[in-house]
Amino acid sequence: MSQELIERAKEHFGRLLEKQFERVARIKAEDEWIDYSQLKPIVIGILGGDGIGPYIAKESEWLLRELLKDEIASGKIEIRNIEGLTIERRAEVGKPIPDDVLEEVKKCHVTLKGPTTTPRKGDPWPNIESANVAMRKELDLFANVRPVRVPEQGIDWTFFRENTEDVYALGSDGIDIGDDISIDFRLVTQPGAERIARLAFDFAKKNGKKRVTIVTKANVVKTTDGRFLRACQEVAKDYPEIETDDWYIDIMTAKLVDEKRRRDFQVMILPNLYGDILTDEAAEFQGGVGTAGSANIGKRYAMFEAIHGSAPRMVKEGRAQYADPSSMIRAAAMLLSHIGYPELGKKLDMALDICGQYEKKLVMTGRPNGATSHQFAEYIMETLRDPKLEERHAAFQQQR
Ligand code: IPM
Ligand code: MG
Repeated sequence: MSQELIERAKEHFGRLLEKQFERVARIKAEDEWIDYSQLKPIVIGILGGDGIGPYIAKESEWLLRELLKDEIASGKIEIRNIEGLTIERRAEVGKPIPDDVLEEVKKCHVTLKGPTTTPRKGDPWPNIESANVAMRKELDLFANVRPVRVPEQGIDWTFFRENTEDVYALGSDGIDIGDDISIDFRLVTQPGAERIARLAFDFAKKNGKKRVTIVTKANVVKTTDGRFLRACQEVAKDYPEIETDDWYIDIMTAKLVDEKRRRDFQVMILPNLYGDILTDEAAEFQGGVGTAGSANIGKRYAMFEAIHGSAPRMVKEGRAQYADPSSMIRAAAMLLSHIGYPELGKKLDMALDICGQYEKKLVMTGRPNGATSHQFAEYIMETLRDPKLEERHAAFQQQR
């Protein structure tokens, strides 16, 4: 009996390996980075998602359309709505991304996505893979870039979370063997680790950062984290002007709360799951996951999203119009910088800082005693349009 189970498990493992050999070959054959300056139009797709998603997506889209009015008029940019990335549709077709939605997404160069509900055991939904994870895999969005800034505490971190490997790659491919044993698989590949490391070091170099920190648990998870660490250290050799160090995830988690040490960290590179966890902790310093944006970047496509969930309870209780759109608007700022409008992206970031962290003339509470999503988006727009935006931002920073 157990022999038969072992044989079946071996076959399963063999099939996974076949797929990974193909995938590694694809990564190695990857071509150049897309050049947005050559495109006309650059197509931006908006995906509402679930729960509060469509509400905050509407505000983000409104802001983008306002900011890009001239580019849209001249045909340099096109903004499209893509319907159907809902949990109802995904359950109906039994896929994390319905085929027609994926087809539309692939016609866009970049997308801005609202949160999507991820089913878990016990939910009324079938156990389909997370739409986020599927999108990252389908579009090969290998870098999850998550900035966290708290100027008054001297915090300016940029996390480079590997986005297509680790336990996420085979998260739906684990196996139950007999009644008593369950096994999941963790994957790290050489080209997969190298490409995230290269992007992080390039970012550090371009942005005048002096230090890059590699985060693993290579003392225990020796094979996969060991490879990840070695690959990053190899890439580091091409950047001798940057100081590189490595930390284990447990102590790293502690050091982020250490007031004396945390401001020394600048750029961090992490495998997928550690990156998922550490970036939620990091976002908390800045006001919580509702304030943080996230960029999922690949060579051909890029997707920008809020890092929080879809908050179905807010919708059920009739409070969706009070959802905080800041996180998705942060993502929109990252999108603008990424496609070649860094000045606009920077202004939007400053307006978000002023409205959400400093001035707080309107406050989001998620309830009728706070501002609505649209009022807050208008407040951001008004702030951004103020010719004194930069002075205002600098003044708030100095006050602290
Ligand atoms: C994130 C989220 C996702 C992840 C979930 C929704 C699958 O937590 O983007 O950080 O784990 O990557
Ligand atoms: Mg997360």
